[in-house]
Amino acid sequence: MTVFSLAYTLHVLAALVWVGGMFFAWMILRPAAVAALEGPARLKLWTNVFPRFFVWVWVAVLILPISGVGLLQLRFNGFETAPRYVQVMMGLYVVMTALFIRIQALQLPELRTAVAAEDWATGAQALGKIRKLVGINLIVGLVVVAVASARPMF
Ligand code: HEM
Repeated sequence: MTVFSLAYTLHVLAALVWVGGMFFAWMILRPAAVAALEGPARLKLWTNVFPRFFVWVWVAVLILPISGVGLLQLRFNGFETAPRYVQVMMGLYVVMTALFIRIQALQLPELRTAVAAEDWATGAQALGKIRKLVGINLIVGLVVVAVASARPMF
């Protein structure tokens, strides 16, 4: 395996884990939890789901730019000569990471505190904010993967 193919594999796997995880949470787990669980049980489920998933998101947040910059150097000899779709990818990475850090630093502690205090109304509000931000990040992530895959168009 060459350094290039190792970096490429890690890069695509990291994107898969992050975007695929958000897809599963939003499209599958969220409606299933609404159908099967009462409000308090649902909030407790999400306080257990997010920290486990976020460990892997942090891994992806680190691996994507490290492997991505490696690919940039190996394939395009640096930033200046990188094609448009790679620049779009880097810009949207910043957006995705900023939204993720916002959830991790603000919304998740709010949800945890509310659940610990059995304040279900505040917990539901915090979960609603997280749902919105994850929904936006899922769309941005899908756009990045589409842009990366359809690169001859950009
Ligand atoms: C600092 C952030 C990033 C940098 C510097 C970067 C850079 C790159 C580079 C140089 C390539 C190879 C392009 C080529 O061979 O033509 C690539 C491919 C790819 N990137 Fe990124 N990337 C970043 C973030 C992301 C993010 C956030 C995602 C998705 C969530 C992503 C998904 C992909 C995918 C799926 C490919 C493979 C495309 C294909 O071969 O079809 N990248 N990236």
